[in-house]
Amino acid sequence: MTKEAFYGAYLPELERIFQELMDQAADLRREQEQEQTADRSPVEHYKGRIKSADSMLAKLKRRGLPPTMEAALTKNHDAVGIRIICNFTRDVYEVAQRFKEQNSVAEEKDYIQNPKENGYRSYHMIVRFPCGIGGVQEILAEVQIRTIAMDCWASLEHQLKYKKHVTNQALIGHELKRCANELASADVMMQTIQELIEDEREAGETA
Ligand code: GTP
Ligand code: MG
Repeated sequence: MTKEAFYGAYLPELERIFQELMDQAADLRREQEQEQTADRSPVEHYKGRIKSADSMLAKLKRRGLPPTMEAALTKNHDAVGIRIICNFTRDVYEVAQRFKEQNSVAEEKDYIQNPKENGYRSYHMIVRFPCGIGGVQEILAEVQIRTIAMDCWASLEHQLKYKKHVTNQALIGHELKRCANELASADVMMQTIQELIEDEREAGETA
């Protein structure tokens, strides 16, 4: 089924919200690039999507919800989703702060401070947008913010999750988690190195 057929009159609303979030990410990136004091942007890259009808229908089914546009928009929060990838952990919180200032946040989940059992790390935010069409009052969108290392892990884990034929699930889960923890310590080290460089540069500027 096409997005037009599934979301109907709400598709332009979803597109408007999607564009709004993409614009915010673009602005954040541009603004940071222009700052004379910082030679780096906290936003490495970003991407977004409006969930396809097929994957929305599969998700509704999985959750025991009716296969309707209403359920997709009121019982679900990721018809619109944007993912922002940052260089350093500190940047993730900076970007999150900026999004909080600019949007009405319904929910925040800090899977960096509290990683999931499988090792997943990311900062999630559910943002609320008023809906211009009657019937659905507001539309929720999901913002995911994470470092390159966290994103690397999530992408690979996502691919591996679908290879269900593997017999040694326990071992694989254990190894994946170990990998997530190693990447998390690499993020700490990279953040430390970045701060050392910044300190040196600042000392050089005041000398
Ligand atoms: P859904 O997972 O979307 O049903 O919502 P939820 O309420 O459980 O929210 P949660 O914050 O757990 O997850 C939202 C999204 O984060 C998912 O749709 C994925 O894109 C991503 N995500 C969450 N957990 C994992 C994970 O263990 N691995 C990967 N690769 N992605 C995850
Ligand atoms: Mg989940």
